[in-house]
Amino acid sequence: MKRRKLMLGNWKMNKLRADVAGFVSELRGELGAPLQSVLQKVDIGIAPSFLCLEAVAREFSEAGWWNVAQNVHHAESGAFTGEISMPMLAELQIDKVLIGHSERRQYFGEDSQIITKKTSACVARGFHPIVCIGESLEQRKSNLEKVVIEDQLRTALATCRSQSDFTIAYEPVWAIGTGLAATASQAQEMHQFIRSILGKLVGADRADQLRIIYGGSTKPDNIAELLKQPDIDGALVGGASLSGAGFAQMIMHAL
Ligand code: PGA
Repeated sequence: MKRRKLMLGNWKMNKLRADVAGFVSELRGELGAPLQSVLQKVDIGIAPSFLCLEAVAREFSEAGWWNVAQNVHHAESGAFTGEISMPMLAELQIDKVLIGHSERRQYFGEDSQIITKKTSACVARGFHPIVCIGESLEQRKSNLEKVVIEDQLRTALATCRSQSDFTIAYEPVWAIGTGLAATASQAQEMHQFIRSILGKLVGADRADQLRIIYGGSTKPDNIAELLKQPDIDGALVGGASLSGAGFAQMIMHAL
């Protein structure tokens, strides 16, 4: 099955609203074709800070552009100081969200129970979660990567069924922000494994349609090889998505 590629930038805690316009003109300038025509071939989006969501959405009004939140709380409302709910995002027409990024797991104590709740709440509300999974360096050194990934998938997707809409982002923790991306064959092996587990969870036909994107030190000069792999359906790009020109160069490899 031919799956459309998805190129998603994750700005993390970077950029001010004042930086958005410069990014946009760099990206549009470097693409070499109108964004609208590029979006006919590849899905593209950015996950900026909550405070930049509106500014980014305003700049990219083309149909098919993905406006993505970096996090969401699973409850509809309530006494959860500092949190953002799905109704709040929906008010901005945002219905896609990263769930369980390794930085959320590592620095903000998000465990598998929280991630299950968040993914379930997204799916129940018609949001599209981009569920991030990945093993640590210690786990890979102990040959535990497949055990860890299967466990993360099974818990995160506990309530997902064949009709659920979601994306998986495979991001080995040892590759995030380290400059040490997985090789194309390491990534392909894991993506193929992830698809086989998805097959058990939601059925082989659905698993064949779902996108599994790769994240971890992707750049303009290593993205082409990764995107050539049969089970790599795009990328979640951190550091390299902060440059509009660099991100545009990466997008062009997905065409
Ligand atoms: P990186 O981050 O591209 O800077 O390694 C990827 C991510 O964390 O999504």
